[in-house]
Amino acid sequence: MSKKTSAPVSRSGRFTSGPGEDVARFTESISFDWRLWWHDIHGSLAHAAMLQRIGVLTRAELKAIQVGLRQIAAEIEAGTFTWKAELEDVHMNIEAELTKRVPAGAKLHTARSRNDQVALDVRMWLRDEIIEFGRELRDLQRALVELGAANAAVIIPGYTHVQRAQPVYFAHHLLAYVEMLDRDYGRLLDCFARVNVCPLGSGAIAGSTLPLDREFVAKELAFVDAQGRPLVTQNSMDAVSDRDFAIEFCSLAALVAMHLSRLSEDVILWASSEFNFIKIADAYTTGSSLMPQKKNPDIAELTRGKTGRVYGNLVALLTLLKGLPMTYNRDLQEDKERLFDTVDTVRASTRLTAAMLRHTSVNTAVCAAAASDSALLATDLADYLVRKGMPFRHAHHAVGAAVALAEKLGRPLGELTANELASVNAAFGADAKDSFNLGQAMARRNLTGAPGTKEVAKQLARWKKVLK
Ligand code: ARG
Repeated sequence: MSKKTSAPVSRSGRFTSGPGEDVARFTESISFDWRLWWHDIHGSLAHAAMLQRIGVLTRAELKAIQVGLRQIAAEIEAGTFTWKAELEDVHMNIEAELTKRVPAGAKLHTARSRNDQVALDVRMWLRDEIIEFGRELRDLQRALVELGAANAAVIIPGYTHVQRAQPVYFAHHLLAYVEMLDRDYGRLLDCFARVNVCPLGSGAIAGSTLPLDREFVAKELAFVDAQGRPLVTQNSMDAVSDRDFAIEFCSLAALVAMHLSRLSEDVILWASSEFNFIKIADAYTTGSSLMPQKKNPDIAELTRGKTGRVYGNLVALLTLLKGLPMTYNRDLQEDKERLFDTVDTVRASTRLTAAMLRHTSVNTAVCAAAASDSALLATDLADYLVRKGMPFRHAHHAVGAAVALAEKLGRPLGELTANELASVNAAFGADAKDSFNLGQAMARRNLTGAPGTKEVAKQLARWKKVLK
């Protein structure tokens, strides 16, 4: 039984008409929770196997339930299963259909409530999504490293306040995002650990009087730690009303979206005619319907724009939970669309950003021209004076005076003569102008984490190894 995630239920035509229609429309969740069908069926298969072990189901009954559930799964996958809105949700739709076909289906819900069932389904679904999303995050890091490595010699101005500050390798700038995404990846793994706990057996609120084997179910559904020990929730009331795991995901997703949005903003700036540092391939841009010359960075803009809904989903979930008394309340049904949308949005943004970067080239000549701005090395000139023994505050002042002189003469700072520099401050020697040698300047920046030639090469090599 493979998993399929594309069988949208059309609302139209599937709803019963009559006086209850408005109520049914308001309360149903099948139009969106059908996405949990695969996990719902697998949760039921594990629950049924456990019920047979404890003597609630005979072997024949278990077999019949298994056959029935697999049949239903095959039909859902083939798109021939009819979802009924009057049956409210994915859980009732599947169970009702099973019971119609298999009398023993009526025993499946023994010691189970939709309250622990939906908590189980969402946790199982999110676990799978986290694994896929983790791969996609890693791949985006890889795309950034690849683009940096392919342009390893490219230097650009680094910016603060969107003003040229100091020169950095283009790769160093990209690796900043690799670091951010690495923290996101770590948060994703942390989140997984708290999603990966089995709530089944909590019943509606108070567990069951029947001797369920919760650990067996947990193992069947791979809710286990690194040693293979089962992980089950420890308080039935918490288990049926907890959605922390979903909020935690939405919270880390908000950070991912924020990081992608900042990267998008850099890409948009760099692709503008004003910067012109990069060129995004046509397939990843769109034209204007009116202005024939336009090539818009839509992937980056939409990624930036979609950050809003990811934040909104987080706030919606936090607000949903804040006033809820223990334990399950129907309000909780509102969790799914926000969670689904968050997962879909950050996964797509991550994938599309990686693809866009893999189709982006660097305008090396433009970058070289921008990086040759000698004002970027004003701080290096101050460091030169510091190496001569001058206190940094004084050096800063002396270079400031040199900048003022250059402005007055209408020349770049780097084109002041040694004599002109010396006229500003006697500490400037004949070798002061060496500070404006960009190659040397980059070779000097070799602190850990600095954009120096050796250091950036080292960081690129480190990431290539981590991400291989
Ligand atoms: N569709 C419901 C939800 O998403 C399933 C749980 C319903 N439980 C209940 N007691 N009505 O939360």
